[in-house]
Amino acid sequence: MPDLLAEIRAAFEHQIEVYGPLLQGDTPPGPPKSRQRPLRESRVDADAAMNESAYDRIKGLIPGNSLLHMHQTLSEVEEYVRTTTLIALDETRINPVFGVGHPGADLMVIGEAPGADEDAKGEPFVGRAGKLLTKILQAIGFEREDVYIANILKSRPPNNRDPRTDEIQAHLPILYRQISLIRPKILLCVGRTSGTSLLGVKSSLAALRGTFHDFHGLPVMVTYHPAALLRNPNWKRPTWDDMQLLRDRYTELGGHFGHAQNPDIAVKTGVAVKADVAVNTDVAVKTDVAVKTDVAVNTDVAVKADVAVITKSKPVSKKDKSTV
Ligand code: URA
Repeated sequence: MPDLLAEIRAAFEHQIEVYGPLLQGDTPPGPPKSRQRPLRESRVDADAAMNESAYDRIKGLIPGNSLLHMHQTLSEVEEYVRTTTLIALDETRINPVFGVGHPGADLMVIGEAPGADEDAKGEPFVGRAGKLLTKILQAIGFEREDVYIANILKSRPPNNRDPRTDEIQAHLPILYRQISLIRPKILLCVGRTSGTSLLGVKSSLAALRGTFHDFHGLPVMVTYHPAALLRNPNWKRPTWDDMQLLRDRYTELGGHFGHAQNPDIAVKTGVAVKADVAVNTDVAVKTDVAVKTDVAVNTDVAVKADVAVITKSKPVSKKDKSTV
């Protein structure tokens, strides 16, 4: 138990480090909302079917004459980007910045364009803003390796100027191909340029954030760019709110946590989703076995959960709501 308390304290300290101190009168972030709103099998199945056609529709946005249609894997597309000049910036870059992360990630993070650090390394979000992005993702349960991170532009604009519309239009099809190959369940756009370019709208960040948008069937959250948070800490709180919404929706959609670790076993996590075994979690969703969870949903066997919903075998729970 002392270990668990230390972990909870560490998690709060981490949140405060990333998002700043809680505002006066705020209560600390409570348990995930999914605890109040259990996952329903039918919703997940419907979402899966919808996503199948979403990826086809997104692939269909690529112009018919694009060579991208010939490339069937991420590494083929990466090689195409490395060897092809689509815009002048592709000639002046040190390295193309294609994308990094889990090739089957359920969450895809989309930034604007590489900066100097990214250009030098050929990897997105490796500078100061990138380190903050990593911490933000960790605060909602993702390691950087669990997600896929890419940009709208794959080449650095000089002096970090804003990407031009013609540059965005020329590189967007690469992102469409990445999405249709990775098949994420949800997209997170960081910054206004990322959100407006992907969604094809003209809007302020303030108007875009705080709610989900639809991108051909995929939910999109748009929030502040981590570089903006470094400039203005007042935006950390709304970013935290957006990230909570993102995590809740991700959980509802059956997104995986811990791709990069051992997906078979999730131990002492806040939320464990689709693990084979989940131990000491607050919420366990779609696990084969869940032990000592507060809430266990859609498990095959749930033991000592406070509330167990839709398990196949009868759990030893304090409040046995419904078992099938
Ligand atoms: N900002 C971005 O939008 N992308 C990067 O890769 C780095 C900084």
